[in-house]
This record gives sequence, C-alpha cells and structure tokens, in this order.
Amino acid sequence: MHIPEQRFGSGFVKPRFPNLLPTTSLADLANKDCYFQMHQLHIDPEFMSLDVKEWATIDAFKKSEVNSASSDAPPITVAREETLRPGLIRPETLEDVSRVKTLKEMPGPSTFGNLVEFFFRDGFSRIHEIQMEHRQKYGKIFKSRFGPQLVVSIADRDLVAQVLRAEGATPQRANMESWKEYRDLRGRSTALISAEGEEWLKMRSVLRQLIMRPQDVAVFSEDVNLVVDDLVKRVGSLRSRSSDGESVVNINDLFFQYAMEGMASILYETRLGCLEEEVPKDTQDYIAALHLMFSSFKTTMYAGAIPKWLRPVLPGPWEDFCSSWDGLFNFSQVHVSKRLEEVRGQTERGEEVKGGLLTHMLVTMEMSLEEIYANATEMLLAGVDTTSFTLTWAVYMLALNKEVQQEIYEEVLGVLGPEETPTADHVTRLPLVRGLVKETLRLFPVLPGNGRVTQDDLVVGGYYLPKGTQLALCHYSTSMEEENFPDAGDFRPARWVRKDNTDRVDNFGSIPFGYGLRSCIGRRVAELEMHLALARLIQRFNIDVSPLLSSEVKAKTHGLLCPAAPVHIRFRDRDP
Ligand code: HEM
Repeated sequence: MHIPEQRFGSGFVKPRFPNLLPTTSLADLANKDCYFQMHQLHIDPEFMSLDVKEWATIDAFKKSEVNSASSDAPPITVAREETLRPGLIRPETLEDVSRVKTLKEMPGPSTFGNLVEFFFRDGFSRIHEIQMEHRQKYGKIFKSRFGPQLVVSIADRDLVAQVLRAEGATPQRANMESWKEYRDLRGRSTALISAEGEEWLKMRSVLRQLIMRPQDVAVFSEDVNLVVDDLVKRVGSLRSRSSDGESVVNINDLFFQYAMEGMASILYETRLGCLEEEVPKDTQDYIAALHLMFSSFKTTMYAGAIPKWLRPVLPGPWEDFCSSWDGLFNFSQVHVSKRLEEVRGQTERGEEVKGGLLTHMLVTMEMSLEEIYANATEMLLAGVDTTSFTLTWAVYMLALNKEVQQEIYEEVLGVLGPEETPTADHVTRLPLVRGLVKETLRLFPVLPGNGRVTQDDLVVGGYYLPKGTQLALCHYSTSMEEENFPDAGDFRPARWVRKDNTDRVDNFGSIPFGYGLRSCIGRRVAELEMHLALARLIQRFNIDVSPLLSSEVKAKTHGLLCPAAPVHIRFRDRDP
C-alpha cells in the first residue's frame, strides 16, 4: 500500500491515508487497532494472545439457567470450585454447568450499606478507598447495587485481563443514554466517548490513524515545546510573586493552563494564551467558562442517573448538564470553524494547505463537520484535567522523594546536559522519565475504575454474567496489590525500566489508559505533553514541597482521582 507523505505540526500536510484499506471490513480494522496497541503498550502479543480453548461462549449454561431459577442453582463444593478454570468456559456437561455460580451467589455490600456509604459517608469522594475495602472484604469479584443498577466489580489483574481480552469489535464502556439524549436534543453528533457500535468504530478508525502511535505524535514535539517554554517562564513569574519568592501556589492551576494550551495547540492548531502574563480577554472568558464547566460537569454527570419523569420536579441537574455541554461544544466550534475558514480561503486561493491534526480532518473530511466538532469537544474534555492532575501528582511525588528526583535528574542531565531542549526523540532515551509517568499513574490512576458493559454472556471468576452486565474494573485496587507490584505503596519509577528486551514490566495491574480497542486514544498526546514538561522542569529546577504546604495532600475522587487539597511546590533554579 502506498502511504502518502505525512508531516504534522508546522509541517505540510497532505491528506493522509485518504482511503485506508478500502477493502477492509470494520471488524478487521478493529483487530489491527488491537494489534497496534499491544505493541504500543510494549506488551508481547504472544503474552496477550487469546487461548480459544479457554475463551468461548456458554450457550449450554444459558439454556440450563433459563430452565432453573438461579437461586436453585446446585450448591458448589470447594472441590468443584477448585476445578474451575479462570476465564470463560463452554460447559460440555451438566456437571460442568453446576460449577458456574450465579450473580445471586456473588458476595457484595447490601443495597442499604451502599446507600449509607455513598450518601452519608461521602463515598463519592472515596471511591478508590471503597474499592480497596470491598476487595479486602468480598474478594476478587463482587456486586453492588446503585438504585436499579447492578454493577459487578472486578478487582483482580487476571480477571480484568480476561474481560478485556474477550472484547468484541465495539466494546461499550457504560450506558451513555443521557449523553446521547443531549446530542439528539441539540442536533449534535456523538463522538468517540459517547458513540457506540459501528458509528464509534468508524470515527475510531479515522482518529486512530492520526494520534495513536508515538511516531504520529512526535511531530507535535516542536509545538508542545513552545508551550513548555511558556510553562517554565510562568513558573518563574508565579514564584516571584509568592510570599517566599520560590513557591508556585496550587500547581494544578498552572498545569491546567498548560494542558489546555497544549491541547489547543495540537487539537485546534492555535494558541489561546493561557500561560501569558496578560491573558487575552476572550481567552480569559473561555478559561473561566471552561473551568466552571469542568468543575460543574463532574457533578452534573449524575444528571443521567436522574430518571426522566423526575426532571420536571428536579430540573436543575439536567439543565446544568445541558448548559455544560453547550459551553463545551461552543468553545470547540469557534476554534474548528476559525480553522475551517482559513483552510477554505487557502484552498480558494490555490495555496498549499499546511497544518496539523485539525487541518487533516478538515481537508480529508473522513468525518462530517458535526463529527469533527463533537470529537474536538470530547477530546478537550478528556485531555485537560487528566493530564494536569497527573502532572500535579508527578511533581508532588518528586518533591516528596528527593532521591528518586536526583536519579531522574542525573538521567536527564546525561542525555540532554543542562541546556538542550528535550524532544520526543530524547524521550526514548529517558526511561526513568517515562517510568515517572507510569509510576505516578499507578499510584494515582486518574480513572481509578473503568467500566465495560458485557457484549456477550460470560463466565468470569466462576460466575455467570449475562450479556449487558455493567462491570467496574477496579484499577486502583489492582495497582496497589503487593502481588502485582512489590512494595506497592512505594514510589519507584525504576520498577518500570526494563533490564533487557525479555524483561516484562507491563502488567494488567496498572492500565491507566485502559486497554484494547476502546482504550484512551489520547494516550500518546498526553504522554508527549507530560514527558516534555517533566523532563524540562527536572532539568531546570530543584523541586521541593513548599513550606507554604502545611500537611500531606491525599487523593479524593471527584469524577477523576484528584488532589484533595491544593499542592504548593517550591522551584529553585539548579546551578548552571
Ligand atoms: C494522563 C492522561 C490521560 C489518562 C490517564 C487517560 C485515561 C483514559 C482512560 C482510562 C480511558 C478509557 C479507556 C478504556 O475504556 O479502555 C480514556 C478514554 C479516552 N481518552 Fe483518555 N486519558 C488521558 C488523556 C487523554 C487525552 C490527552 C485525550 C485527547 C487527546 C484523551 C482522549 C480520550 C478519548 C477520546 C477517550 C475515549 C476513547 C474511546 O472510547 O474510543 N485522553 N482515557
């Protein structure tokens, strides 16, 4: 296949892959996606390969269960349980069927207990801790009920692996009804996060080609580095204004601005001026609106949980939910439309069209304009808080673990010296900087749990899960398990550095970007932004906890796993 020349960032862009594998079916594309990702995750495809004998449907069991009430299922002896192989099985005989337990038999907190935990003991901000407590109490797999919704939680590395490896061509994360309802109401398109089925697969196969491999995003290096220049300058100006002259107060605000500016430069091919001393007025308004949107958005997410019939009585959450989305869509539309006008003008004048990600989407039009607006909106939503929280935790961990910081500083110094600006190419030679991000995400996975709706009947951990079961994959608790990560409570970026090519450091215990066909499409963008910023900050500054910070900052869940209090960091210039 001939692949047209492609360069991004400030380079010239011709339509890339105008007709990607035209004869390939969507399911084939999906399989290729999975294969690419295995390599990107540095997971040996052999290690991940599916054992077809173990993974199969369970029609026989289904039929037998229909004939017998689930509560009447024969008791399971210890001996029988021991013979159960973890994973999906095809029961051949009645005896095999009897080994599989029903959902009724699955342990878990009572509905009342859950209600108390979440509504009276602030469980929503402790979801990560509750995961650990429930893992201790109920084991690797347990069920919880939230009103009418039954959720099966999976808190075991191997079972998580089994579920994700068994996915079909179009995995579903959760019920996205309320997101879809808003889009129908406003005549908007769905995008990667909100779309399902073939619609999702079509968009995924377009976007996947553009930003999923490290080499795809390496071309944004120059643009991201301009944003890092501004970040470093801003550290200088903010600390000079602090009471001790060295601290940046609430570092997450700064990283929010950095992540937003970075996303805008990659996604919209424009600069917003978030990190400038004098932020342009219109950008200021946008940032304020967006800040509000991000913070209110998380709470209004629960709007979807409020039944439609209750809306006339309790209209607030749904109205907030819709106006949050209005703001997000408008923001993206302004920037996408601006670029569209420029591209149209250039085309009409017969000029060469140069640009990056957005230009490519607008020139090739592999997605409709509405789909482009929607994807720009959802990607911005997905890419700012996630990246800024991770950067906040990373510098906080560096400040708390000075020996680790010194080790990483020496690595950076060895590769770059005191002055050279790191690029994506350098990052390949900075394993400890990459380990820093992985270890930060292990201890503080921005999404402490992820969801899947089973697309088929499955047997997981010896339990029969009917098609359509909502699963919660407990990434936080698997990240903290000793069996998966020795001395799991310690911050050790070096644990991610491979000793040699045969060394396997990745495991399903920590998959902060998810896994498989539906994994995070922005992973490489996020990593580039984080690697370049962290390498530069470590190269330039000695990073400490600020004396203005009086107590240890813990994590809380607020939609995402975030710092429960502002983190203040002291940046002192390193000796030249
Ligand atoms: C530290 C940064 C980030 C983390 C930890 C993160 C994590 C995740 C996770 C766990 C998922 C769900 C994956 C799954 O269900 O298997 C996800 C999905 C997604 N992320 Fe990220 N993300 C980050 C940054 C970004 C960025 C920068 C972008 C945009 C450029 C982005 C765009 C998306 C999108 C669009 C999806 C939905 C993908 C789909 O359903 O096909 N993320 N992310």
